[in-house]
Amino acid sequence: MIAIAGLAAAVMAAEGARIPGFVFEDGAYVPEASRSAAGGAPATPWRVPFPPMPGLDANSMTPEKVELGRLLFFDPILSGDNSMACATCHDPKLGLADGRRKGQGFGGAPLGRHSPTLWNAAYNAHQFWDGRATLLEHQAPFPIQAPDEMNQDPDELVDELLAIPEYVARFDRVFGCGQDAITFDNVAKAVAAFERTLLSFSAPFDRFAAGDADALTAQQQQGFELFRSKRLRCIECHPLPTFTDTRFRVIGVPEDDVPDPGRAKVPGEGPFGAFKVSTLRNVAVTAPYMHNGHFDTLDAIIDFYADGAGLANDPPAENIDPIIRPFRITNEEKAAVIAFLHALTDTSLQPSRPERVPSGLVATAPPSVPIE
Ligand code: HEC
Ligand code: HEC
Repeated sequence: MIAIAGLAAAVMAAEGARIPGFVFEDGAYVPEASRSAAGGAPATPWRVPFPPMPGLDANSMTPEKVELGRLLFFDPILSGDNSMACATCHDPKLGLADGRRKGQGFGGAPLGRHSPTLWNAAYNAHQFWDGRATLLEHQAPFPIQAPDEMNQDPDELVDELLAIPEYVARFDRVFGCGQDAITFDNVAKAVAAFERTLLSFSAPFDRFAAGDADALTAQQQQGFELFRSKRLRCIECHPLPTFTDTRFRVIGVPEDDVPDPGRAKVPGEGPFGAFKVSTLRNVAVTAPYMHNGHFDTLDAIIDFYADGAGLANDPPAENIDPIIRPFRITNEEKAAVIAFLHALTDTSLQPSRPERVPSGLVATAPPSVPIE
């Protein structure tokens, strides 16, 4: 009897601890957005459950791991000179990006690409504009070690974390095995678990798709019709429910200086100039846009596509995706598409910045404010 009561209490405790965007079901945390859309109100054909979230099986979610990951994400101890956190370039207040055209790295060094939003990166089949990493656990070591980003040595990072009792206790609680719990791999695992909570799936569009016809304005509904029309063809590369087909395609965004090979930078991949199709969830809050931050507004992006994207460059971009072709669009229609893109905004699970991180450090440089 006592044993059963103890078990029930343990289950209740586990159920009581919430992970944003997840539900506790049959003894495990399951992403709410990936659950079957069956049942409930009569849904529209647009109600599509999210695909399985990559990597969950190998790195189980627990509330303690997510919290450890959140602290590490905001802690400048991850960078070589303790100046910069992940959040410096993926700031919750700036759409989990940095508001800059191109990232600004270690010591203010300009980076070659725009810092992408981390909203729904958990659902990406590939990470980075060129897809050179797959799982989030595989991605995190890149910025930490990159000399032009956080410029940190993995062994030094482990030593620094071992010197902070709060981290020693938290890693032990999450991974077991005392001091041995602090490894570079476990840093990546905890950060990845936190990133899997940066989810956007309850936008006005999702309520509309679930059968609430009033969730979108008439203008937004017109925008959705255009978005999926044979004329604009946006939905062919930005399909429901993630608004990315997870592929690499050439659309020919103008380059400022040296052309970026994109997917072709990864050995054996291509074509030259192909980039990962971006998610459009929360796109209204993640300007500027594209791999090089070339466009500041959604308005400019729709003009770009209407003109035939890179086909209109001088000289025209090569290898342009066959789906791309010019189309005509009135100002009223353009406003409708933009209004629709605004209906994809759901930042209800925006993470809060810890008041204090275990290292006690405060991110200093570069300043986490837009410079352009
Ligand atoms: C100095 C700025 C900077 C810092 C610090 C930084 N990032 Fe990034 N992040 C970027 C840039 C720029 C890219 C795109 C690089 C590319 O595609 O080649 C990126 C890409 C990513 C992506 C891929 C997203 C996608 O959709 O492809 C993830 C995930 C990510 N960063 C997470 C992190 C984590 C976790 C940390 C901390 C360990 C971190 N970043 C630190 C600038 C930064
Ligand atoms: C042929 C495939 C394709 C089609 C069709 C397409 N897109 Fe894209 N879209 C992409 C790719 C690839 C990127 C990223 C390109 C880059 O960064 O260079 C992108 C990026 C974007 C971005 C920037 C997102 C960000 O966070 O930076 C927006 C907004 C966008 N597309 C909207 C649209 C709209 C609206 C339409 C229809 C008019 C459309 N797209 C049609 C492939 C496509």
